[in-house]
Amino acid sequence: MTFQQIFNQLPETQASASGRVNLLGEHTDYNDGFVLPTAIPQQTTVKLGFSDDGQHQFYSRNLQERVTILDIHHTPSGFASYIFGCIEVLKQAGYTIPSLNVYVQSSVPIGAGLSSSAALEVATLRAIRQLLDLPIDNVEIAQLAQQAEIHYVGVQCGIMDQMASSLADTQHILFLDTRTLERHVLPFPNNTTILVIDSGVPRTLATSGYNQRWAECQEARQLLAVKALRDITVASLTEILPEPLNHRARHVVTENNRVLEVLQGVTPERFGELMNASHTSLRDDYEVSVPALDTLVEVLQKTPGVFGAKLTGAGFGGVCVALVALGEEKIIAPQVLKQYKNAGYAGQILVPNFEVSDAV
Ligand code: GLA
Repeated sequence: MTFQQIFNQLPETQASASGRVNLLGEHTDYNDGFVLPTAIPQQTTVKLGFSDDGQHQFYSRNLQERVTILDIHHTPSGFASYIFGCIEVLKQAGYTIPSLNVYVQSSVPIGAGLSSSAALEVATLRAIRQLLDLPIDNVEIAQLAQQAEIHYVGVQCGIMDQMASSLADTQHILFLDTRTLERHVLPFPNNTTILVIDSGVPRTLATSGYNQRWAECQEARQLLAVKALRDITVASLTEILPEPLNHRARHVVTENNRVLEVLQGVTPERFGELMNASHTSLRDDYEVSVPALDTLVEVLQKTPGVFGAKLTGAGFGGVCVALVALGEEKIIAPQVLKQYKNAGYAGQILVPNFEVSDAV
């Protein structure tokens, strides 16, 4: 159904925002650390109109679900919570937001670890900025989006996803210092590109596991008497912490150091080694991997033309990202899917956007 069919009017405006994949710097952003995301081609589009019955109405084309906000003191659940959160944070920032008709459609896979949430938040905020001509810049959009997610969705997320969705493009890697918001646009390593593969395993424990890791990092930084784990730069300093905080903190420290090494300029081979080390650390120290992701990463790492691979995003299922030789994606992808299938799983290539035939 179109906007017009749902709301009986034409949209006043529309805006889009991309999903992201993170190449390195996982679970560092809520520790004031460093990240290296890039945008993916998949986007979320939000269309807006004014609602004339005094109530916000949200429609998701993907879910074919319509939500009417009858009570603004009660946060809705599901996709509506993100849109509602964006409207509420704008109101708290002092803007007057009229009742809106909001229509969402997305090609970002939902819940796979590619920031469908941030894409929805950023697209919503961009569309409202456009509709009401609000004086908000792209960094503020990311900050408001993060607040919406923390306070209205209930995830203690860092700012990586929202900054990536608001500022990154698909042709570059965005280096971001999540404490200062200092950022640099980096090229991909020479003659490389990325493959993003869905493991086929949903991220079931993502929210609870994520918030638990966040709490463990808070505890670790308090015991180490630092503002954030970012302030520890030598991994051995985390050894005084009790289990499992020592491992959690060691992941954050080593992961930050891996990102900083990339910033100095590295070969594709070294970039790949750092991604492999990141996955090992996420699996063993941070414990956010699952067997399917480990299998997929192992298959990728053994495939010629792949420099390195890791899980990406929060973990607990979802997608893997690999750095591969440019031009070899179409040879690598079917080999990887076949091997992964032999191990009992069903994967899917999400980036680049091409069909992989079964005839390997
Ligand atoms: C999720 C969060 C991000 C970040 C990643 C892990 O995507 O939204 O803020 O913490 O997990 O790197």
